[in-house]
Amino acid sequence: MRSVYCGLVDSSALDQTVTLCGWVHRRRDHGGVIFIDLRDREGLLQVVIDPDTETAFRIAEQIRSEYVLQVVGRVRRRPEGTENAGLRSGQIEVLATHIEVLNVAQTPPFQIDEDGVHEDKRLRYRYLDLRRPVMLERLRLRARVSGWLRRFLEDKGFLDVETPILTRATPEGARDYLVPSRVHQGSFFALPQSPQLFKQILMMGGLDRYFQIARCFRDEDLRADRQPEFTQLDIEASFLDENAFMAIMETMIRGLFADVLGVQLPDPLPRMSHAECMSRYGIDRPDLRNPLELVEMSDLLRDTDFKVFAGPANDPEGRVAALCVPGGGASLSRRELDNYVEFVKQFGARGLAYIRLAEGTDGGVEWQSPIVKFLRPQTVAAMLERVGAGVGDVVFFGADKANVVNGYLSHLRSRLADDLGLLDGGWKPLWVVDFPMFERDSDGGRWQALHHPFTAPQVADTEAMLADPGNCLSRAYDMVLNGSEIGGGSIRIHRPEMQQAVFGLLGIGEDEAQAKFGFLLEALGYGAPPHGGMAFGIDRLVMLMAGASSIREVIAFPKTQRAHCPLTDAPSAVEDTQLRELGLRSATKKPASA
Ligand code: AMO
Ligand code: AMP
Repeated sequence: MRSVYCGLVDSSALDQTVTLCGWVHRRRDHGGVIFIDLRDREGLLQVVIDPDTETAFRIAEQIRSEYVLQVVGRVRRRPEGTENAGLRSGQIEVLATHIEVLNVAQTPPFQIDEDGVHEDKRLRYRYLDLRRPVMLERLRLRARVSGWLRRFLEDKGFLDVETPILTRATPEGARDYLVPSRVHQGSFFALPQSPQLFKQILMMGGLDRYFQIARCFRDEDLRADRQPEFTQLDIEASFLDENAFMAIMETMIRGLFADVLGVQLPDPLPRMSHAECMSRYGIDRPDLRNPLELVEMSDLLRDTDFKVFAGPANDPEGRVAALCVPGGGASLSRRELDNYVEFVKQFGARGLAYIRLAEGTDGGVEWQSPIVKFLRPQTVAAMLERVGAGVGDVVFFGADKANVVNGYLSHLRSRLADDLGLLDGGWKPLWVVDFPMFERDSDGGRWQALHHPFTAPQVADTEAMLADPGNCLSRAYDMVLNGSEIGGGSIRIHRPEMQQAVFGLLGIGEDEAQAKFGFLLEALGYGAPPHGGMAFGIDRLVMLMAGASSIREVIAFPKTQRAHCPLTDAPSAVEDTQLRELGLRSATKKPASA
């Protein structure tokens, strides 16, 4: 039906006859001559219909936006002054000899080139939204990325293996999506939060190197970079330590960026320990494009009378940290400073102190601040010296439990970089390593795994781990790019007694461990090789590469923030008969509208 894509016709086709298929992007009637911008996957092309070509002209008169046409015509140069440098086909146009309407279209609810259409509407009419060149471009990029990664891994000897979607719970810290079983009434499959256990079992099966572009399901609170179903590039390998494995992953990501974006990432990628990340940025996925850093103040404030600072400074779990903003004292108004104090409250801050360094009347430095009156001048001087603050700067201070201070100062740090335009462009990847194995859960009680419970500790024997779990580091690594966690993984536990000890520490008793992970424990007992791996979030990676603001922009059919699909209106109510077959009864009378 077609000899060439609209968007690919250029001057090299002059005087040739072409057959095009596409959508009417726009129709312009210039009294006598009709112009149609015909659009397909590859771009736009201008079709001219002369009144002399009578049938074509009669058809063209009826045509409206988004009609589907087949056009036969001759390629000719556009008249001088009417060229469009923005289009590949901008030097030429096609003089139609024949037009056929392949299908009509109702008036679309929004124009294909309209900006600012509400996302719900875009998702409801996703087939129209996908016709927008920017969306086609993003999906094309995504296909290039997954194709490139697949070829790379195949070349390196990784085997593409599929793992089940109907399975048992695989714990990655989110809620499961459950699927009731008809055959085994009262029992449920869980959709995998990741293929974690299966890929480990594949290593125990001797596959040696595995990868999969895998769909994962997590029922968690959604954000711009989280979807209930998303795609991982999931990888596992045997007989490699973390350095050897991370080297392959680095080569892969560097190659991807070089080939697909023409971007050179650093070789090797920088590495930073989790402790250093928390200390300097307050977060384990720092955006290194942002030059601002947190600076430790606690040791300077142990003896002060100012309780707000002295309390956390003397608390082993407390922290007083500063964030110096060069030039911020001069450029931020008093009101803007107070707005930041308000801003951090949503992240649990009880307060935010600041000192602005202004030029005093005597030519010296004047400290403008609600807190300096509570502190000895030499203390203030030492604090300011440590952060290297000078006239024109402003220094913010947070004091509280370390996790609270880190939480709100890291948000403040990104907000300041946005407001003051401090982010340098470009790409700043890093590895974060040396994570703690365990952390206390939110009420300070039980131990929780920082990654998943299959991650190996840095110590080899169980006694050493159990002796001091709080200070035990893991063999996990995350890859972070521009403040986004794009991938994470670890060397795994491959001995049953270590796996059992970790379960025990996490409060998973022997019976529960047997019930939930008996198959893994058993497999570990039949000669499990040392192994490890990682998974990249393809959606996040492509989002960053596309410069998009949400992963929904790089997923063909995403869910809304409320985990609803406006196109198909899923999830939906089901017939009572269907529930009965499954041995279920709904406690909700009417389905909650999404
Ligand atoms: P993790 O849970 O860190 O590790 O997931 C790996 C990567 O997947 C992406 N990701 C998500 N993307 C979109 N929406 C979500 N809801 C979402 N959750 C995670 C992130 C993340 O870095 N089994 C381990 C990997 C391993 O140890 O090999 C795992 O799933 O980019
Ligand atoms: P207060 O004694 O609560 O009036 O606080 C005195 C000053 O210390 C005010 O400028 C507060 O913003 C600041 N402040 C209070 N709590 C904290 C905190 N947890 N961290 C940093 N500054 C604080």
